[in-house]
Amino acid sequence: MSRSWHDVASLEQLRRDGSVVARVGGREIGVVLDGDQPKAIRNRCPHMGAPLCLGTVREREAGTPGSYRFEGRRVLHCPWHGWEFDLDSGVCPDDARMRAAVYPVRVSDGRVLVEA
Ligand code: FES
Repeated sequence: MSRSWHDVASLEQLRRDGSVVARVGGREIGVVLDGDQPKAIRNRCPHMGAPLCLGTVREREAGTPGSYRFEGRRVLHCPWHGWEFDLDSGVCPDDARMRAAVYPVRVSDGRVLVEA
């Protein structure tokens, strides 16, 4: 199946709501904001199917009890059980077997476009 760009929301709506979800080709794809950068990821957690885009984008912490530190990279934190996903690769840093599909995204004339 060939990929094409899909208009999923206005940039204004994305900024106001923090995330948007659209159905594209039978799949739910969400766009979340990482700072000012829109990132598109499938809205289904590979762990147990949570609506991943209801999660939060934040800096990843690593370590052991008593010695947590920020890793300097940001991840999407699943709202159900807290697994984290890299927004560029969709891979879970703690278990590379868990990966959510990610999609190219761009903004044009105030519209958010996802290639899928
Ligand atoms: S459903 Fe996402 S971490 Fe469990």
